Amino acid sequence: MAGTARIRPSTRLSTTGMAVPPTKGNAPGRLPVLGHAIPLRRRPLEFLAALPAHGDLVEIRLGPQRAYLACHPELVRQVLLDPRTYDKGGPLFDKVRPLVGNGLFTSAWAEHRLQRRLVQPAFHSSRTASYAAVMCEEIESMLDSWEEGRDIDLGAALHALTVRVTTRTLFSTTIGGRAVADVQHCLPVILRGIYRRMTSPVGLLERLPTPENRRFEEARRRLRAVIDETIQGCRRSGAENGDLLSILVGARDEESGEGFTDEDIRDQVMTLLIAGTETTASVLAWALHLLSRHPEVEKQLHDEADRILAGRLPAFADLPALDYARRAVTETLRLYPPAWLLSRTATVRTELAGEQLKPGAIVLYSPYVLGRNPDLFPDPGRFDPDRWLPERAASVPHGAMVPFGAGSRKCIGDAFGLAEATLALAAISTRWQLRPVPGTTIRPKPEAALGTGPLCMLPQPRRFGAGAGRTNP
Ligand code: HEM
Repeated sequence: MAGTARIRPSTRLSTTGMAVPPTKGNAPGRLPVLGHAIPLRRRPLEFLAALPAHGDLVEIRLGPQRAYLACHPELVRQVLLDPRTYDKGGPLFDKVRPLVGNGLFTSAWAEHRLQRRLVQPAFHSSRTASYAAVMCEEIESMLDSWEEGRDIDLGAALHALTVRVTTRTLFSTTIGGRAVADVQHCLPVILRGIYRRMTSPVGLLERLPTPENRRFEEARRRLRAVIDETIQGCRRSGAENGDLLSILVGARDEESGEGFTDEDIRDQVMTLLIAGTETTASVLAWALHLLSRHPEVEKQLHDEADRILAGRLPAFADLPALDYARRAVTETLRLYPPAWLLSRTATVRTELAGEQLKPGAIVLYSPYVLGRNPDLFPDPGRFDPDRWLPERAASVPHGAMVPFGAGSRKCIGDAFGLAEATLALAAISTRWQLRPVPGTTIRPKPEAALGTGPLCMLPQPRRFGAGAGRTNP
């Protein structure tokens, strides 16, 4: 049946959900000493996306170290739903922790449970309406700054949008505008620096006093100072003003009565800024790029915007009706998931797909590889938001679509990110049609997030309501 995923017979799922029997394989092209370091560095997406053909669990060598890519959705679930056995940890996290602190994203299982209980209320669905109001204001001011025929550096515009939204929802009244400007300035420098440090095999270059390293240290120092200042301001005022920061400051665990220290809060704020900005900005950039190359999809999005919004900009209350925009975001997440490769470390001896893993073994999962697997998504290269119509989505195997992860480490900001991207897409569709600047070629840039690289587009005002004759803006 068209639109139904095919799972290889050897790995068809039993009623218990366990693969029978999963296959193991080795990634081809391994070199002595280097292992698969060269293809992983030079063309990681192509290299990884070819691995499901070699098995459900495929061994890769990162230099001398073994790592295993879980290619079958059931194995991905097995790993993600057992966070005690497959924890955050290992060499990558050891590098990232000193840079971003021990927040939700990096903390180990034992600390994570309390942290998550304390942060979760800040992401309760009852908060989304007030966050969405900030999103809508910022989206409107971005759209107001665009001019017909003047090309936009969309990457920079969307990054500024998501940084402003996340910063304003974190620090609504505390120190206001200055924090937003500082974060906007520092965050890109910090993100670039973190990615370089994560991928540097030796870690020596980062210690030299080069201008780039000095900029990185200065941005980190400045951002920490801004965050510390806002935490102190928030503690002094004692007010619960509904922003994320005051929720973190006031958080108490019901069981133990424990709360966060200032240092804990700083780590959480850093984590939210890092995890919540580049991810949403890059999915939006990809969505706009894809729409500009798929007029039939773009038309459906425009039709929906006209039908639901009739020329006005969307608000929180419109979200449930913006079905097509949401499906377009979901389909973009399948093709270009910002978090394209993630890792876990085995904490005990265990077995996965028949492979005996020792403590410290690295297990990887890649929403990108899963999303491109023709056994899971028929015609996987096709941008088809209607895959996510309920009747078709029901045939997608559990564990195949995990752009936000799964289990207790699932993205805490999934609803936030989806709301922001959906509102932005619907708002842009109401006012503008974006066209690629002639001659631009976009190639995925797999860095900290899966970016588009430089993305310049030309905005053209959109007419809505056939024959209504109104031109926006
Ligand atoms: C489209 C946008 C986003 C995508 C694709 C995304 C993706 C992800 C993924 C895949 C994970 C799980 C990582 C793992 O399994 O190791 C994650 C975790 C996380 N994300 Fe997101 N994210 C997005 C937006 C956001 C936003 C808007 C925020 C906050 C404002 C956020 C905050 C976090 C945090 C704090 C974690 C760690 C959760 C935990 O371990 O408890 N993310 N995200």
